[in-house]
Amino acid sequence: MRDYWYKRAVFYELYIRGFQDSNGDGMGDIPGMTSRLEYLKRLGIDCIWLLPMYPSPGHDDGYDIMDFKSINPEFGTLTDFQLFLDKAHMLGIRVIADLVLNHTSNTHPWFLEAKKGPSSPYHDYFVWSDNPDKYANVPIIFQKSETSNWAWCHECGKYYWHRFFTHQPDLNYDNPKVREEMLGIVRFWLDKGLDGFRMDAVPYLYEREGTLCEGLPETHEFLKTIRRLIDESYPDAVLIAEANQWPEDLRQYFGDGDELHMAFNFPLMPRLFMAIRQEHHGPVVDIIRRTPELPENCQWAMFLRNHDELTLAMCTDEERDYMFKEYAKDPQMKLYSGIRRRLYPLLEKDIGKVQLLNAVLFTIPGSPVIYYGDEIGMGDNIYMGDRDGVRTPMHWDDNRNAGFSSCNPSKLYAPVITDPDFSYTSANVQVEELIPSSILNWMKRLIHLRRLFPSFSNGKLRFIFAENKKILSYFVEYDGERMLCVFNMASSSQPLNIDLSEFAGCRPVEVFGGAEFPPIGELPYQLALGPYGFYLFELCG
Ligand code: NOJ
Ligand code: CA
Repeated sequence: MRDYWYKRAVFYELYIRGFQDSNGDGMGDIPGMTSRLEYLKRLGIDCIWLLPMYPSPGHDDGYDIMDFKSINPEFGTLTDFQLFLDKAHMLGIRVIADLVLNHTSNTHPWFLEAKKGPSSPYHDYFVWSDNPDKYANVPIIFQKSETSNWAWCHECGKYYWHRFFTHQPDLNYDNPKVREEMLGIVRFWLDKGLDGFRMDAVPYLYEREGTLCEGLPETHEFLKTIRRLIDESYPDAVLIAEANQWPEDLRQYFGDGDELHMAFNFPLMPRLFMAIRQEHHGPVVDIIRRTPELPENCQWAMFLRNHDELTLAMCTDEERDYMFKEYAKDPQMKLYSGIRRRLYPLLEKDIGKVQLLNAVLFTIPGSPVIYYGDEIGMGDNIYMGDRDGVRTPMHWDDNRNAGFSSCNPSKLYAPVITDPDFSYTSANVQVEELIPSSILNWMKRLIHLRRLFPSFSNGKLRFIFAENKKILSYFVEYDGERMLCVFNMASSSQPLNIDLSEFAGCRPVEVFGGAEFPPIGELPYQLALGPYGFYLFELCG
């Protein structure tokens, strides 16, 4: 079996503006992030995913791009970027970046030209209409911020199509020149040594009347064209789909192993939070059973949180109401169809729950993605606008501005978290590296364990059912290695009796501490689990 690096990798989602400021202007930048690479090496991650680093007016935090082949001057220069990339590679860390195929900023020179009207060679780079009735059934993604997917352009007297903010006109993929431009952008960054892309908003590339304009055959065809380029010229690069879709639709982005290598597992994510709240394995088991198998060269990207709101798009109305009731008690916490909170506050700062969900995330086959700051249990700020409250500066130490910047605190692009419960004075890298039992040091051990046992990345999963529905348990197996994972989703201690007779004679060894448990026999195996307790066993012998 071939070894695919991205199937074994632990990813780290990094927000450049929030990571480290090097020049005291109150904003994180590329040289700052380069100076923190050793930290990421110590953490043990394999691949960084950079949020958009391109020039942008910043109305959607860089997802509104003015120039796809350059670096936002607030972050540095192309040379800074190359130095960052080279140092990351020297340390054995790969780097992927966001690739925003679907739209540009309305300040992109293409759009400025396009607005001049049909005589402009760029007019056809975007999607225009004389009336706003086309594609009438297509949902609006940024509900409340936007009232239509069409916006009126005074200058050319037509409407243009935008699936996201008004200032993000969608590119017209029916135009071969657009497709060529985008392939050129892919080549540009991979030639610099980038290791792949997180492909933003991939379902929305093409529009067709009478459809929801999501995941159309033409869209998949173009994604396959990008993949052919990768396979021919950059065979080690990875493409990860951001497609907030149900399992059956998501499955299509993998093609027959000839489309994208990975896709974020959007349906699983909210169900991990549901399961722990309902103290029941049901939500997780049901969605995994509904999730189709992937081709051998493909992998799920597994995540708990990211830079956006915790999206509940892949929930039924009932499930969404439940999630809002349980996890967004203050209306300030709601945004679009989701919840704008970080992992630690969501889980009420309960380290047991944080460890439990991470342990599930790291052992269900798939590649985990850690959102910057979540590894140290950073808090959020629900009083900031849009999604800014989960994008505050990284906490490095308990000095001024949490060690993020030397600037006057009022100059920071966003305040550091000072809430007594989550203050940077204790939730920071320096303090946590010194405390053996900190969440940071625990995450390092988890990352290390995942590397030791390939079943967690490549394995086949099989649930085991016991009478106690509060327990989630499964085997993962790979190449003769057999792992048994048992999780108590409840806040109370729980007994467990499971039939492991197929493994009679094996000795379970708990992998965090190395303790050997009583051998498995023909009778039901008995275990007791503390609140949110779990065991990861290797079945030896
Ligand atoms: C998805 C990104 O994650 C989000 O932050 C952004 O606003 C939209 N795509 C639009 O690009
Ligand atoms: Ca700076």
